[in-house]
Amino acid sequence: MQGLLNWIDARFPLTKVWNEHLAQYYTPKNFNFWYFFGSLALLVLVIQIVSGIFLTMHYKPDAALAFQSVEYIMRDVPGGWFIRYMHATGASAFFVVIYLHMFRGLIYGSYKGPRELVWLIGMALYLALMAIAFMGYLLPWGQMSFWGAQVIINLFNTVPVIGNELSTWIRGDFVIADATLNRLFALHVAALPLVIVALVFVHIVALHVVGSNNPDGVEIKKLKDENGIPLDGIPFHPYYTVKDIVGVGVFLLFFFAILFFSPEMGGYFLEYANFEPANALKTPEHIAPVWYFTPFYTVLRAVTLTPFAGTLAMFGAIAVLFALPWIDKNPIKSWRYRNKAHTINILVFAAVFIILGYLGVKPVDPLFKELGVRMTEIYFLFFVVLWVHNSPAKVKYVLWFTILAGLVLLIDFYRYNPKDGENAAQIIWQWVFPIVYLAVTVLLPGIVKSFNAEKEVPTRVTS
Ligand code: HEM
Repeated sequence: MQGLLNWIDARFPLTKVWNEHLAQYYTPKNFNFWYFFGSLALLVLVIQIVSGIFLTMHYKPDAALAFQSVEYIMRDVPGGWFIRYMHATGASAFFVVIYLHMFRGLIYGSYKGPRELVWLIGMALYLALMAIAFMGYLLPWGQMSFWGAQVIINLFNTVPVIGNELSTWIRGDFVIADATLNRLFALHVAALPLVIVALVFVHIVALHVVGSNNPDGVEIKKLKDENGIPLDGIPFHPYYTVKDIVGVGVFLLFFFAILFFSPEMGGYFLEYANFEPANALKTPEHIAPVWYFTPFYTVLRAVTLTPFAGTLAMFGAIAVLFALPWIDKNPIKSWRYRNKAHTINILVFAAVFIILGYLGVKPVDPLFKELGVRMTEIYFLFFVVLWVHNSPAKVKYVLWFTILAGLVLLIDFYRYNPKDGENAAQIIWQWVFPIVYLAVTVLLPGIVKSFNAEKEVPTRVTS
């Protein structure tokens, strides 16, 4: 065995790579639950690629055959249902894992220096994942595939001047048709998987240059022993390979429970309307994207100034995440040591993201419509508040509260139209949401000292 290893090492740096990235790669010893999701994302990526390859063996990317080919996979191909449900459940599982992975970055400030590039590559991955999921959803050529793609591609119509040409170019036809299905298939099975695998590779290479952050936000590379090994570091292998296997076990338990017992997940993972073949002459009663897109779909529906403004707000809600390392310049990384207002800000943001997601699958009535606007306001205000908290000791909180609350009320004033009946009534009382949010995160730390107190960051990791 050693002979074979020596033979390989003389020709390929196998032992060197193994040591540098696993056996002698030192990682903080205080990783917790939140550090499971990077390796789980890798696992789901493998599940998607393997199940996707098998699906492609029987799937037909042809508008006349696609729907039946999926039915054929489900009913006639041995084990076909298992592979298909694995891929469909995998798509949702990917986003569950990725949202938790991103949330970890948010609470522990992992996007801050020196990990800005790890975050940016991660965001590029997130975009690529949304693109591949959107394209994959068209492939079964069901009603929701067709009409969902119709709504999303039509967004490009709202771009001034070139809008119509742009969406026709994307579709390859004047309507969603065979040409659209063919190109999205090519991108879904060939181009985007390559892009994602390449991005994951550079994501991890970039991470290994700077090393992992941890729940204390302490840079373990600053304190090393005489051999140059971080005092608070332990080798990734075997310590975290073993820990991650526990995470994989628990994850697979949930994954297979859903796959075997509820693959549609009440219509959230696979929408019921998609069990009907695409029909260009029949619009489904209620068009909603899959759950992982719905927060942004609500933002789109909330901004009604002009159709293009809605599109910009939707893409802006994603784009602003790229800028996080430059918005939040507070030197303390982990929320463990930041002030209480910051912790509340993050928890509210998470809740608002979930509410936005919920609203995106609901039909618009005046209550939900206005709630969508209010949650969109808080979504964007979150980033401003984050920025305001950059140096809590110096901030003029009352002034900032006045400016931001004033801005919200000004927008309300502009939107308010007494003839607008039920909508106007909703505007009148729902201002409570953004104003209470601002009062707690911006006014309170200015008035109650304990709300603004930051804790001292330890030099060593705590546990
Ligand atoms: C296919 C998608 C992705 C895969 C396979 C992946 C994989 C990983 C892995 C294996 C790690 C190291 C283990 C860990 O810290 O959990 C990691 C760290 C990290 N990832 Fe990702 N990731 C993906 C997407 C993203 C996205 C969308 C973001 C954010 C926009 C992101 C941001 C980060 C950050 C900031 C770290 C360092 C965290 C720290 O050290 O505290 N990743 N990723």
